[in-house]
Amino acid sequence: MSEQDTITFDTLIIGAGAAGLMCAATAARRGLSVVVLDHAKQAGKKILISGGGRCNFTNMYTSPENFLSENPHFCKSALSRYTQWDFVAMVDKHKIPWHEKTLGQLFCDDSAKDIVRMLMQECRDAGAKVELRTEIFAVDAQRSGYSVKTAQAEYHCKNLVVACGGLSMPKLGATPFGYKLAEQFGHSIVPVRAGLVPFTLHDTDKQAFADLSGVASDVVASNEKASFREAMLFTHRGLSGPAMLQISSFWQPGETVAVNLLPNEEVLTLLQTAKVEQPRSGLVSVLSKYLPKRLVQVLANYGKWPTKKLADISNVDIERVANNLAAWPIKPNGTEGYRTAEVTIGGVNVNEVSSKTMESKLQPGLFFIGEVLDVTGWLGGYNFQWAWSSGWVCGESV
Ligand code: FDA
Repeated sequence: MSEQDTITFDTLIIGAGAAGLMCAATAARRGLSVVVLDHAKQAGKKILISGGGRCNFTNMYTSPENFLSENPHFCKSALSRYTQWDFVAMVDKHKIPWHEKTLGQLFCDDSAKDIVRMLMQECRDAGAKVELRTEIFAVDAQRSGYSVKTAQAEYHCKNLVVACGGLSMPKLGATPFGYKLAEQFGHSIVPVRAGLVPFTLHDTDKQAFADLSGVASDVVASNEKASFREAMLFTHRGLSGPAMLQISSFWQPGETVAVNLLPNEEVLTLLQTAKVEQPRSGLVSVLSKYLPKRLVQVLANYGKWPTKKLADISNVDIERVANNLAAWPIKPNGTEGYRTAEVTIGGVNVNEVSSKTMESKLQPGLFFIGEVLDVTGWLGGYNFQWAWSSGWVCGESV
């Protein structure tokens, strides 16, 4: 197309995901003309598949401690100005039924579609336009704002909001566009890596645990930086489940994760007592009362536990098995990467962005919200809350 229309808006938002839609509705409600552009066919694709299709849309206990960032103070202002309860109020206004599943995690009773419908309705009611299937070719700063070129048109806006998300799940439309745009305007990027992601195992471990695919157990997974008590799941590729996803965000290649497989028990006391009270039993039969039998059997083979009766097992060996169960050391080979990761850790350096408005400190009129920033929540609804909070404060500021 040689001759293009130039369309002017107060605010142009790139990315019709959680943060972009929240920002659009908030800004348009203030009377601004707002357009959201997205290359995807559908708005809020990640919302639609989140939480197993029911969207874990926030967490009752959201606080700044639930987020990773090079600057842990950055998220405080936005989270306190638009809280989990503000979002719950919006969900209630739209009469969307919800429930707490566990650990403060709030889910839709019916479908994640309810959340996308709600955000689109909020945008429509406020007069914000959402234009999908729109590829962006170029963004340039001008004397009075920005020009954004697409195949269909050239847009001009006073304020430009980057809400392109991170790199996780490229098949849902994730691209590095937000980071590239940030770099174009002089921003630095905190190195990115996949977070909330299943671990893969070295070949020997993968073979040893192959029969356990589908087995889950309540554990505490820890490393030097963090500790999470949730379920661990063996998969045909490695280890997943909430406990592993959580600790993956704090894991660096080469590190070992310690897994307490019996978090409710004082394992050494349990085995010592069993040795006195059930001297003729073996370790596997005693421990199978507390853990899935298949798991105990595999752990016994893997850890070369003595197969004798408890009465004949030395105290040194009892102690070794107890230590093994209380801090099973697992050294992942790696992670499944962005293909299955829920989030991207790292991103646009928050020290170059205002925590009050989300505006760039380097480039007036340029804003960053949501996952593209170096703010990453734990598993449990925290990442959406960051998208809502950062999107809202930006919508109030543009
Ligand atoms: P988001 O990724 O939502 O949106 C970015 C938008 O930008 C997309 O619509 C994309 O198409 C668009 N875009 C990208 N590049 C573009 C380009 N070049 N041009 C135009 N548009 C472009 N969190 C949580 O709190 N609770 C949960 O239950 C889950 N569950 C979950 C499941 C799965 C499978 C995943 C992958 C992720 C989650 N998350 C989650 C994380 C959550 O989905 C994520 O943190 C938020 O969606 C981030 O919101 P943003 O708006 O920043 O990005």
